[in-house]
Amino acid sequence: MEVLVDIRDVSKIYNPGENEVKALDHVSVSIREGEYVAIIGQSGSGKSTLMNILGCLDIPSDGEYYLHGKNVKDLNDNELSDIRNKEIGFVFQGFNLIANLTAFENVELPLIYRGISKTKREAFAEAALEKVGLGNRMEHKPAEMSGGQQQRVAIARAIAQAPPVILADEPTGNLDSRSTWEIMDILENLHSEGRTVILITHNNEIAVRAKRIITIRDGRIESDTGIQTDEASDDAIDQAVSVEITGEDQTVEFDAEDFTND
Ligand SMILES: Nc1ncnc2c1ncn2[C@@H]1O[C@H](COP(=O)(O)OP(=O)(O)OP(=O)(O)O)[C@@H](O)[C@H]1O
Ligand SMILES: [Mg+2]
Repeated sequence: MEVLVDIRDVSKIYNPGENEVKALDHVSVSIREGEYVAIIGQSGSGKSTLMNILGCLDIPSDGEYYLHGKNVKDLNDNELSDIRNKEIGFVFQGFNLIANLTAFENVELPLIYRGISKTKREAFAEAALEKVGLGNRMEHKPAEMSGGQQQRVAIARAIAQAPPVILADEPTGNLDSRSTWEIMDILENLHSEGRTVILITHNNEIAVRAKRIITIRDGRIESDTGIQTDEASDDAIDQAVSVEITGEDQTVEFDAEDFTND
C-alpha cells in the first residue's frame, strides 16, 4: 500500500511569543493507505491539532507534511479545499449538525457545495444514511434523534461521497456504550471496505479496536505499534494498551463510565 500521510518533524506553535503553546513538538509519522489507526493521548496532548493538520484544516508551524507524496505547502487554496472535500471525510465530536435541517438535508448539504447533481446527491445521501442504519430517520431533525443517531448522521455526512480517508476526532466521546459500539462497527466496516480510518480517542477500550495505536503525549509521539500483520498488531496493541492502563504515569485515563450506562 502506498504512503498516504507522511509527516516529517512537524511542530505546531499556537500564539507564538510570550504565551506560546507548543501543541506539537517535532512529530514524525507516516500512515499508509487502508490503515486503521487510533491516535490516543490525554486531553491537551495535541491530538486535535494533529488531526487538523492531517486534514489540511491547519498548517504546521514547522516541518513538512506530504499527502499522497505532495508537499501540502505547495498546494494552493483550491487544491487544498479539493482535498478536504473529496478525499477526507471528517467526523467531529460535537456532531456539527445543522439544527433546522433534517438528517437527509444535513448529509446532502456538503454535496450541494460540491456541485453534485440533485439525482446523485439524493442517491448518495440515502445510501449513506442507510449504511449507518438511519434509513428510517431521514426526515428527522437532530433534536428528534438520540446522540448516537446524531453521530451516525455526522458519519453519513462524512462518507456520503465515499472519501478514501476518514478522520474521526473522538467520534464516540459523547455517547453511551451501545451507541459507541455501533459507531465503532461502522468505522470498522469502512476500514474493511479499504478506506483509511484515523481515529482520535482518549479511550483505550476504543483504541484497541484499531490495527495500530499511536500514543501522543505533550505534543510528542510516545509510542507507535507500527504497521503490522493482523496477529502481530493484536499483540503489539495489547501491549501498548496494558502499558497505558497500568503504567506508573497513567498516561491515558480509562473512561469506564462510557461503558457502564447501558
Ligand atoms: N487555537 C489554539 N490556540 C492556543 N492554544 C491552543 C489552540 N488549540 C489548542 N491549543 C493548545 O494546544 C494543546 C493541544 O491541544 P489539542 O486540542 O490538540 O489537544 P487534544 O489532545 O485534542 O485534547 P482533547 O483530548 O482535550 O481534545 C493544548 O495545550 C491546547 O490548550
Ligand atoms: Mg481534541
